[in-house]
Amino acid sequence: MPTPVTADTLEVRTSTGGHGSDYLIRHTTLRQLQLLEAIVRLGSFTRAAEELFLTQPTVSMQIKKLSEAIGTPLFRHIGRTIEPTDAGREVHAACRDILGTLSNLEIKLADLKGLKRGRLRLGVLTTAKYVAPEILGAFCREYPGIDVSLKVTNREHILERLLGHDDDLYVMGQPRETNDQIQTIPFAPNPLVMVASVDHPLAAQRAIPLSALAEENFILRESGSGIRDAVLAHCAAGGLVPRVRMQLGSNEAIKRAIVGGLGIAALSLHSLTLESAGGRLALLDVEGFPIVRRWHLVYSRARELSLIARTFLDFAIAYEPEIRERLAEAETNFARVRDSLIAQTRSAPVSD
Ligand code: PGA
Repeated sequence: MPTPVTADTLEVRTSTGGHGSDYLIRHTTLRQLQLLEAIVRLGSFTRAAEELFLTQPTVSMQIKKLSEAIGTPLFRHIGRTIEPTDAGREVHAACRDILGTLSNLEIKLADLKGLKRGRLRLGVLTTAKYVAPEILGAFCREYPGIDVSLKVTNREHILERLLGHDDDLYVMGQPRETNDQIQTIPFAPNPLVMVASVDHPLAAQRAIPLSALAEENFILRESGSGIRDAVLAHCAAGGLVPRVRMQLGSNEAIKRAIVGGLGIAALSLHSLTLESAGGRLALLDVEGFPIVRRWHLVYSRARELSLIARTFLDFAIAYEPEIRERLAEAETNFARVRDSLIAQTRSAPVSD
């Protein structure tokens, strides 16, 4: 009796046009291929399990079954890391083709239904999480039938997702790789500012030379963060070796640490728009800051851009002036904070 085919057990045909062996079709599943693709791309069973919302034992069990079906191990352990065997690499290359074709098919079918229903997968930098939900909110009000998923992560992981074709569209800095498979469209500015607590003595000074930061405690983002790379490169170019007090994996945690007096940090102005209107944070007027950078809207040409993603792209570009306005407002607010701190210092009685 034939095995019933469900979404999970749907078997894979091996380009035999119905004439050759259908061994793999009967013994492997699309889900297993999807798992293998994620493990090779992310270099870890655990991260693949997280990405696909599965438990690690489920992932191991499925890969074991896939290896048994293929008749050879697909991964080898080298110390604490794993890498695909030659067979694993071959299967991975085939998986990318199969999953890419299915994903393009999904897009074509969704396009046939127009903008009434469908899915938009967006991947954004941690700095863009301060504006992306707002743009998505406005977009979803206009196109209520569209499901949206938003992945927020740092530059390194966004690049991985871009190369893995995980999402339709990305908001990120300029990808360094020049590659005609990657389309980048300049988007809103993403200035990097130096931030301290309002109580910090440098908060009431102007034109601070970079060298004046040599004695300060720096709070840095985690490795893999674009902000971290940009600030370290800027310091290196100015001959400053920052004294790193701590590393934190979140812009919000860094803001708390600054308010707690643990140090100073470079952050994106986008992450500070709420605090600009009278919080506990001040921008330092340091030479070379703000570091002027831009976000880009980025997508991989290897994957067709869906009608929904194309529509969102235009929508985001039309939204850009509002983002700029918000930044300008934050800059003005922070300039006022500095003026009033300077005025307070001047009027404070000089103690002897
Ligand atoms: P990230 O963001 O530090 O989260 O990678 C980078 C950026 O805004 O350039």
